[in-house]
Amino acid sequence: MARSFTREVEIDRLGARGDGVAQTPQGPVFVPYTAPGDRVGIRLGKPVDQGFAGEMLELHTAGPDRIEPACMHFHDCGGCALQHLTPAFQAAWKQGVVETALGRRDLDASLVRQIRAVAPGDRRRAEFVARKVGAGIVLGFNRRQSSKIVDLKTCLVLAPPLVALLPGLRKLLAGLIQSGATAEAHATLTDTGVDVLLSGIAPDLEGRETLASFAEEADLARLSLKHDGGSETVVQRRVPVVHFADIPVVLPQGAFLQASPAAESLMREAVLAAVGAAGPVADLFCGLGTFALPLSARMPVFAADGEAASVATLQQAAGRAGLPLRSEVRDLARRPLSAKELDRFAAIVFDPPRAGAREQAIEIARSKVPLVVGVSCAPGTFARDARVLADGGYRLESVLPVDQFVHTPHVELVAVFRR
Ligand SMILES: C[S@@+](CC[C@H](N)C(=O)[O-])C[C@H]1O[C@@H](n2cnc3c(N)ncnc32)[C@H](O)[C@@H]1O
Repeated sequence: MARSFTREVEIDRLGARGDGVAQTPQGPVFVPYTAPGDRVGIRLGKPVDQGFAGEMLELHTAGPDRIEPACMHFHDCGGCALQHLTPAFQAAWKQGVVETALGRRDLDASLVRQIRAVAPGDRRRAEFVARKVGAGIVLGFNRRQSSKIVDLKTCLVLAPPLVALLPGLRKLLAGLIQSGATAEAHATLTDTGVDVLLSGIAPDLEGRETLASFAEEADLARLSLKHDGGSETVVQRRVPVVHFADIPVVLPQGAFLQASPAAESLMREAVLAAVGAAGPVADLFCGLGTFALPLSARMPVFAADGEAASVATLQQAAGRAGLPLRSEVRDLARRPLSAKELDRFAAIVFDPPRAGAREQAIEIARSKVPLVVGVSCAPGTFARDARVLADGGYRLESVLPVDQFVHTPHVELVAVFRR
């Protein structure tokens, strides 16, 4: 049965999800939106992670790194977890997350370089959720660990054109969602305007005309509908294009794109600097070619990813630009490139999803490729895979953390290995 009683605790650190942690006789208590050094009155909640969840009821004394959060939605909205902490604390904490993950796998944490941060307001992707409630509509992000939606008026981390979309989107969806039903709007700021992919609505002819008018009023690049079987373009006013370095790529609906262009540039600079003129290079988990395309302007590239639409787009972009790039749609968990296949390359770049690249790392570790650059948004799985490379004879040379997801507990990194 869930416990629920109040007490005062002192927060002594942040846990992996950015919650403040207080040590108590019952074990650690994880209290969201608290800072180290805070003395807070809490309600003890249900058991979690070998401890308990706690809810802050009152702040009695503020810790030295606490600041006033800038956004009116902080605490309600599940998007941000760390706005109440100074930027310097957030940076140092994220750097520590990367160092700790390496240390746990017996890798040298002193190789972690100074974290690079990006400014808030640069995030170019948002997945808004909307629900019809009575005659009105709530539109925004989910509350923390809840299906309740925070009706978003503003957002500090999103690029301003995505925030500007909210009033029009709210009006549009109010006429298209059934009462009590939920819809989603996936919005991406491309270099030619905002691209919107709507799901959870089934508009009739009149509804489609309303969608077209909205696209006009909001000056969207494209508006599409997601069905079970895929995506349908309703209006394309301009081709939605992103550039990797200077190379244009047409964005497929819903494809992966790094969340912040500034962070993407930092990561790309780090990858290009590490690879240098090594060529030929394999870019595994290449997506739309964030790294593969700029690399192919310097050397022959082989690029592989499991998403057929991304690979097709990347190949077309390379073809248009006359770049020496070959690609393959390939599930790299089930069918990783073998050590023998890898041995034709002078360098490997790999950038897997949060689950990491365990199977691919095993093959890389067996290869003779002299240089490997790993990019990751999950330090824990990265360190697991880095251990596999180290056991296979690779020497970790450097790790650059990048704070792409400002005010969240997430951190990206670019790591260089050699043998
Ligand atoms: C973090 S993204 C990186 C993409 C790209 N490097 C970039 O920077 O935009 C991870 C990529 O891994 C791909 N992916 C996920 N699971 C995969 C699998 N089992 N096999 C191959 N690719 C996979 C996704 O399609 C996605 O493009």
